[in-house]
Amino acid sequence: AQTVSRDEDGALTVGGIPVTRLAEEFGTPAYILDETDFRARAQAWRTAFGNDADVFYAGKAFLSRAVVRWLHEEGLNLDVCSGGELATALSAGMPADRIAFHGNNKSVAEIRRAVEAGVGRIVLDSFQEIVRVAHIAQSLGRRQRVQIRITVGVEAHTHEFIATAHEDQKFGIPLAGGQAAEAVRRALQLDGLEVIGIHSHIGSQIFDMSGFEVAAHRVVGLLKEIRDEHGIELPEIDLGGGLGIAYTSDDDPREPHEIAKALTEIVTRECEGARLATPRISVEPGRAIVGPTAFTVYEVGTIKPLDGLRTYVSVDGGMSDNIRTALYDAEYSVSLVSRSSDAEPMLCRVVGKHCESGDIVVRDAFLPGDLAPGDLIAVPATGAYCRSMASNYNHVLRPPVVAVADGEARVIVRRETEDDLLRLDVG
Ligand code: LLP
Repeated sequence: AQTVSRDEDGALTVGGIPVTRLAEEFGTPAYILDETDFRARAQAWRTAFGNDADVFYAGKAFLSRAVVRWLHEEGLNLDVCSGGELATALSAGMPADRIAFHGNNKSVAEIRRAVEAGVGRIVLDSFQEIVRVAHIAQSLGRRQRVQIRITVGVEAHTHEFIATAHEDQKFGIPLAGGQAAEAVRRALQLDGLEVIGIHSHIGSQIFDMSGFEVAAHRVVGLLKEIRDEHGIELPEIDLGGGLGIAYTSDDDPREPHEIAKALTEIVTRECEGARLATPRISVEPGRAIVGPTAFTVYEVGTIKPLDGLRTYVSVDGGMSDNIRTALYDAEYSVSLVSRSSDAEPMLCRVVGKHCESGDIVVRDAFLPGDLAPGDLIAVPATGAYCRSMASNYNHVLRPPVVAVADGEARVIVRRETEDDLLRLDVG
């Protein structure tokens, strides 16, 4: 579905617009987001799961009002995890009953706002929060639909998962020691809550479905325990997000319909084994929808060859617009996009303009040997967790997000200005 290609001069075009023109019009660095591709991916997820399951886009990957409108139009739901994300969702017209509210430390004000707005579900993350949300809902004369987030002792990342000893982290209520069962027991007793299901999120950038198998097995085990004890079959389970995308050519992600089929089969099989009616499934992909839809375009500045090592190529952004390389050792690719070149490739490290040697965008990549200041280079797959994790480190201004569709480009999040920075500085 991606509408990115090269014209006859070797310059990249998105939705028919040359990247050189986008850079001229909107400046660099900039995130260029292919709206057509975003909508297609959102739609692919929705249709893959059909009408018997719900897809909640995880707003933490990237959220703006335009994105909320696209999701609404494509029939997706939205997962938010802060008051700010909730405000963005509501202000762009996402119906509250299609919003799920997450977080391990939601404030009382955030909870009240969410309950008052009528969010479709709040995902409860602790024993204290069970009581807190019940009280707030009751004081507002509401019965809030909730899921209880449990930790199943599975952690998955990319091609591996580990099925034990991952309870030592801040999210959810451990299944171990009967704690999750106890949480459900308590929640069922509170008038302010309607317990609709169990939630589990096992990790991120996952390709291997076996982590989900173990998670589903354990979640269904809990549903069975609840049924046996209370005679109640909770109607929903949420398997979280975390499905991987291709950052480099080594990654081989699955299509939404394969994922939907696998997850549905796993849950159905487990429920048959436990003699439970299959609950309604929901999932929360963030990265898998928005990640591949955007790239960052940078202008090349200083080029510094280090003999026998590699050439350092500095760009006009860096760790403030993509912290993932520095933070997670994430891998990205990069290519020259403003022209073609037949020059011998040289080993480069693409670095930013920040005062830190860890300010690396692409650790090792080949770029043409005739690369020169003023060339434009692009780093693909920066749609998820780049703008949403951007900072003002060194008082660098956060780049805009430019959406391209049908041969037209428009700014959906504008570039920060020095006035924006100074406005906050009231000392
Ligand atoms: N649901 C829950 C409860 C989550 O915690 C997350 C991600 C998602 C859904 C969406 O996961 P996704 O499908 O986007 O992988 N900043 C990191 C990723 C942190 C993910 C946190 N939770 C990164 O840049 O890789």
